[in-house]
Amino acid sequence: MTARGGQRVRVGVLVSGRGSNLDALCRAAASPEFPAQVVLVLSNRRDAAALEIAAGWGVVTEVMPLGRYENDARARDRAMRDRLLLSEVELVVCAGYNRILTDEFLGAFPDAILNVHPSLLPAFGGGMRAVEEALEYGVKVAGCTVQFLEPGVPDGGPIIVQRAVAVLDSDDPASLRERIHEQEWIALPEAVRLWCGGRLRREGRVVRVGEASEEERP
Ligand code: GRF
Repeated sequence: MTARGGQRVRVGVLVSGRGSNLDALCRAAASPEFPAQVVLVLSNRRDAAALEIAAGWGVVTEVMPLGRYENDARARDRAMRDRLLLSEVELVVCAGYNRILTDEFLGAFPDAILNVHPSLLPAFGGGMRAVEEALEYGVKVAGCTVQFLEPGVPDGGPIIVQRAVAVLDSDDPASLRERIHEQEWIALPEAVRLWCGGRLRREGRVVRVGEASEEERP
């Protein structure tokens, strides 16, 4: 959970969709003080808008659709792992990646895979309808979570950062999703920054955030 040798941490991002979180991370990484650089973006979908976003930031992309691996998710995940390792990726970020990763993949990057989810976990985890479910349930506060991904329950990994959003009576899924997205664009770069600064310490499933080092302080 730390940068090596003072170098910027090499981050690989998995995407499937719009890519607004990828964009936020690349924007943060454009600052020379940010301790990470996005070196590779992998998508399981050819039509993911995230691919254009990556290209706009000059990041190498590769599309790895399941069909290329005879619909075998284990084979695809092995190929993704190998591609990430080839690019010397140290930290993997799932930013709107819409498939559950195999345990073998998760085990290849221990404590080094982050995921962003559009709810305050453990509420509304494990699916793709978190925003709709929050509205249907009638919660007054929604939000986003950045967590570690690890083998076991989907969306059950240790929580690193959460940001809350008030639910308005006038909200529909689109309006609430947009405000949650805005918080994700803050939470994800923040979690990456903490990881790279070696500031995350796990105590069981609880993640403690340590003090900033002298050089990190403004
Ligand atoms: C985000 O809401 C994230 O929480 C979820 O998928 C969405 C991806 O959005 N896992 P984007 O592709 O980053 O715009």
